[in-house]
This record gives sequence, structure tokens and C-alpha cells, in this order.
Amino acid sequence: MDSMTFVLFGATGDLAKRKIYPALFNLYLDNKLPDSFLIIGVGRGELSDDDFQIRIKESLLTFSRHVVDEKHHIEEFIKLCRYNRLDVTNGEDYKNLLDVIQQNEKDREIKENRMFYLSVAPEFFDMIASNIKESGLSSTNGCKRLMIEKPFGHDLKSSQHLNEKLSNAFEEDEIYRIDHYLGKPMVQNLEALGFANPILQALWNNQHIANVQITASETVGVEARAGYYDKAGAIRDMVQNHMLQLLMMTAMHLPTQISTTDIRSEKIKVMESLRPLKKEEVVDHVVRGQYGPGEIQGSGVIGYNKEPGVATSSKNDTFVATRVWIDNDFWQGVPFYIRTGKRMNEKFTKIVIEFKNPLKDLYRNDNQNAAPNLLVINVSPYEGVSMQLNSKNPQNGNLEPIVVDFSSSGKDVPEAYELLIFDALRGDSTFFAHWKEVELSWQWVQPILEAFEEDILPLHLYPSGSMGPDPSNQLLKVDGFKWW
Ligand code: BG6
Repeated sequence: MDSMTFVLFGATGDLAKRKIYPALFNLYLDNKLPDSFLIIGVGRGELSDDDFQIRIKESLLTFSRHVVDEKHHIEEFIKLCRYNRLDVTNGEDYKNLLDVIQQNEKDREIKENRMFYLSVAPEFFDMIASNIKESGLSSTNGCKRLMIEKPFGHDLKSSQHLNEKLSNAFEEDEIYRIDHYLGKPMVQNLEALGFANPILQALWNNQHIANVQITASETVGVEARAGYYDKAGAIRDMVQNHMLQLLMMTAMHLPTQISTTDIRSEKIKVMESLRPLKKEEVVDHVVRGQYGPGEIQGSGVIGYNKEPGVATSSKNDTFVATRVWIDNDFWQGVPFYIRTGKRMNEKFTKIVIEFKNPLKDLYRNDNQNAAPNLLVINVSPYEGVSMQLNSKNPQNGNLEPIVVDFSSSGKDVPEAYELLIFDALRGDSTFFAHWKEVELSWQWVQPILEAFEEDILPLHLYPSGSMGPDPSNQLLKVDGFKWW
């Protein structure tokens, strides 16, 4: 891999500490960083290189996936890290940063390949991108890339506006929009599952599949993020990005070869085929909820509107379930159900494919029906795939569902950020969100945002520790299904 300077804006922030340094360190241990590599952490405060390196060391000791027996690996790694103070609004500071980078490129024989990672509040994205351009930081003889965290806009208009700004400084193929769900190993595996298994490939359509259910449930509440979350809600925080990405990855149909362009264009096709919702129809296809008080794993917890920083009158959504139709030849008539929420009874992300069950009535034995075949893709916390089949119990002759389970050991699986940063360093954008995907997602979500804002559908309270409000079950019941 070519030498590179990795410039991290937001170097003293929480994400850097928890995810980015540990990811870079694990790539370092696995020999997956370029031979000549320098990390320049950029932040508002004054910090010496030594203090910066001490902070990184602490973050690695707390959050790194690998147990490091020999501390000397950490000592070697932190030598790759330098700190540079920068006020994001001050053009001069960017010019100073350029001097520092150029000096290091010379001293360490690093080519002019520069990665700019923005781990900062979204209101600074466009300002930083244009200052990078104005200061000459992005005028290189090598490659320049921008890695950017969500949220990418607050609605359709603001995302388009942001994209316009970013594209003044970077080309689309230089922008790596992170959706950390796309970095989860099981999500990356979806494409291989369908592709490398003719059995699944043959069944991946509306002739055989009755419905698809995608759930991301969390036990945590709003935590200390009320300022952001109370304006975002589950619809922006999870549905517009992570959940729709899972939907695209599940529903895409790949042609005969797999390339970044193919995968992205198939995902875009899925989004283009999503049946648009009118604002007035939202009430029939979307359930919104907010957690009330309850119990999580034996401990009492307060309701959302009692959380610090949340107004008692808040109508923010902490739960969303929705029914989605994909109007193309493969999926016509197959409902996709999406559900996500905070303060639910378990933390998991999984995709369940329920197959049609023509044998249900044929195979009857003392009123026993054959249960539907289910393919369950467990994304987290355990990665694995399981298949529910029917089998006769030799002891009593009854037909019973059995589960064939292929779970990965879960040990030493790389973290999403590791996979994503490695891909970005290599210039592979397959598992990053293309602008078109982001724009189409906002477009689909927009009427829902408006319906929520105008309060034209009920907000259902659900007890913390449950699986969400009952109308979410009704959403499937009216179609003859249930959440698995
Ligand atoms: C983030 C959201 O993008 O994803 C959080 O902002 C959420 O609110 C998190 O908790 C969930 O991610 P994961 O990987 O824990 O499922």
C-alpha cells in the first residue's frame, strides 16, 4: 500500500478514542497500514505530541480489540502520531497544517497521499472541506480522500446542500461516507451469502420469500446525547442510514461479477424501486414510539421524557417500525419490515427471511402445520446464519422446527471501523455510502419526517424493556405475519 498521511479532525473526541485509534492500532498489528504512515491528530486545544501520544495509549489500553502482551507495540505505534492545534474557522491554521504535513512528507519519505477524516460535529463538515481546498491541503500529486461520519444532513434539502459543498472540494469517488453498519462483517458477508450459495441465490425472490424482517434493537437509552438525539429521533439516527443500508444489502441482486460499481449500482436500483410514501399514507405503514419507564435486565429505568436534556413534552421517536415495498421484478409483493428502537429488551441486529410455506396445509399431521422456513442472519452481537427447517421428532413422530446454526466463533473478528478504514486506505469504496444512496434514502424518509413533525400519526409509548409498542405487531398481523 502506498505511503500516506492520515489527518484526523476531532482527534481528542470520543469516537477517536473509542473507535478510530483502536482500529488504526489493530491494522498496525496486522501489518495492514502502509509502510510509511503518519497520523496527524487535529484538535482545538493545545496539546504536546507527548500528551497526545499518552492519550492514545490510554485509549488503546481501554478499547483495543487485541490484548497486547507486549507494550512495546503500543510504544511503536504512538510514535506514528503527531498533534496539531487547529481552529476549524481559521484559514491560517490550515496553511500551518499544510507546512507540517509537507515537512513530514519530506522527512519520512511519504508521498503526497492524504486522507482527511472528519470526526467532528456535522456543522463543521462543509467549512473544513472548503478550507482544506482553499489552503492547498488537497492540491497534491498523490491521492486525496475525505472520510466523513454521519449525520449526512438533517433532511433531503440539507443533505443536498452539504453534498454540493463537499463536491466543490472532493470528487464523489474521493468521498468515503461512513455507515458503520456497512463495516459489520456479517453485513459485508450478505453479498457473499447470496452469491456463493446457489441455493440461496435461487430462492432470493418473490416466488419463494414471503417477507423480510430487519431489526436493530438496543437496550441503551438516549445516554448523554439528548442534544443531538432529541432533534434526530430513531428515524434519522437509524432508519435513514443504517436500516436502509441493511435493506439495500439484503434486497440487491448482483449481476455476474462483483465489483464496487456493480454493488453500488444494484443498491441504488433497490432505492429507486422503493415505493414512495405520501405523507398521508405514513400512518398506515409506519409506527412511531417513545420509551416510557420500565425495566432493563432487572434494573428500573426512567422514561425518555424524564431523561436529562429532554423536555417533558418531547414527541421525539425512539422507536420506528415500518413496512416497505420494493416495486421491482424480484420483490414485487414481498413486504420488508424494518424495526429499530432504544430501551428494548435485548441488544441485537438481525435479518430474518421468511420463506413462503406452500406445504403448510398439505403436510398436516394431527393438526400440526409445517412451520415456515426461516433464514436468520445475525449481524450482532453474535455473527452467524441459521436456518429453520422442519423435521420429524423420532420420539413422538411430531413435526417440529429444527434450527441449523452456523455461528462464527465471534472471537477476533475485526471491528467495523477496522474494516472500513482499511478499505478507505486501499481506495476501496464498496462499503461506503454513495451520494445517490444517501440522497434516495433521504427522499424516501422525507414524508415520514414531515408526518412526524406535523404530528399526523400517533406516538405510542412503550415500556422500557419491551419489544416496542403493540401497533408494531399489528403492522405485520394485518398481512398475516408476525415478528420472529
Ligand atoms: C449509531 C447511532 O449510529 O449507531 C446510535 O447514532 C446507535 O444511536 C448506534 O446506538 C448503534 O450501533 P451499534 O453498532 O451498536 O448497533
